[in-house]
Amino acid sequence: MSGPPTSLSIDDARRRFSEEISEAERAASTRGGLAPADVAALHVAWLGKKQGVLTDLLARLREVPKEEKAAFGAGVNALKQEVEATLARLDETAQGNAARAREAAQAVDVSLPPRLPAIGRLHPLTVVRRRIEAAFRARGYSVADGPEVETDYFNFESLNFPQEHPARDAVDTFFVEDGGEGNEKLLLRTHTSPVQMRTMQRMKPPIRIICPGRVFRKDDIDPRHLPVFNQVEGLAIDEGITFADLRGTLAAFARTFFSGKAEVRFSPTFFPFVEPGVDVAVTCALCSGKGCRVCSGSGFIEIMGAGMVHPKVLAAGGIDPERYTGFAFGMGVDRIALLLHGLPDLRLLIENDLRFLDREWVSEVGS
Ligand code: PHE
Repeated sequence: MSGPPTSLSIDDARRRFSEEISEAERAASTRGGLAPADVAALHVAWLGKKQGVLTDLLARLREVPKEEKAAFGAGVNALKQEVEATLARLDETAQGNAARAREAAQAVDVSLPPRLPAIGRLHPLTVVRRRIEAAFRARGYSVADGPEVETDYFNFESLNFPQEHPARDAVDTFFVEDGGEGNEKLLLRTHTSPVQMRTMQRMKPPIRIICPGRVFRKDDIDPRHLPVFNQVEGLAIDEGITFADLRGTLAAFARTFFSGKAEVRFSPTFFPFVEPGVDVAVTCALCSGKGCRVCSGSGFIEIMGAGMVHPKVLAAGGIDPERYTGFAFGMGVDRIALLLHGLPDLRLLIENDLRFLDREWVSEVGS
């Protein structure tokens, strides 16, 4: 072994080192520059105790002729220092690259469109109730309110229900308390009509109110019955109000709410608090009166009870029946929603199933 090859190999090693670095930098250029792992790999390859190039070079010191040992050793050490310094510098760069990459990964891209908040929708019953309210507000009615827990007096007695009326039975009515000796019975109102009485006792004619609200009856749950449902009560009292006003008002409502061509049909019935009393049907919204499965072929669907306020009820409300007359009506909101949307089952309205609720419940029927 002679001097030149060994000294050459230090130069070779130096050249190879700079080639390897260029190579590594080129390879890393498409992924944001050298990573700490790239530098660590170079560190192992060049300075590693076991197989590092510099460790190998130093091991060859034994083979170098005596007189060249000093120069060779100094040459290897100089290269080692260069390699260490270069790798330290590259490591710093690589750590910087890594920090930048981490930041970029966590950064919020403010140019992306925002995620839309889930804002929900109006319940179909709310849509129907609001449309009923709008139709009556437009005719000068205001919206009144009353309690859901009522007294026997407001729910039945003052509305001329005889003591033995079946609705007053616990079979039909949810009693909250039987009241005990001398105390009044409390119950969940079975209709919104007690608000008629509360309004009469509170206001002087002319009166024009509607009252939307929840009502309760001991019905078994099936597609057409729920023990909790919704009504809108209406009451108009003034001098000279006749059945023609009742008819005109409800016909106008039907045209506003259902369609310009909707008609109303009255059939006599009995409610203790009106005289005469009628069931009110409107042109079936699904078949436009042609007759279909929903209206049992009749072309009409019953949506409310109505009538002229009974003189005894006016008197109980503190209104002189000799001077004033009025009409009242009570419509089923759930039933109207059912008809309007052709729903097969009332239970859809209370089950909170998003597949049902997450629709735009604005009716195409009417305007
Ligand atoms: N309260 C009656 C019911 O629930 C409806 C009604 C209201 C009838 C007003 C006449 C007048 O069935």
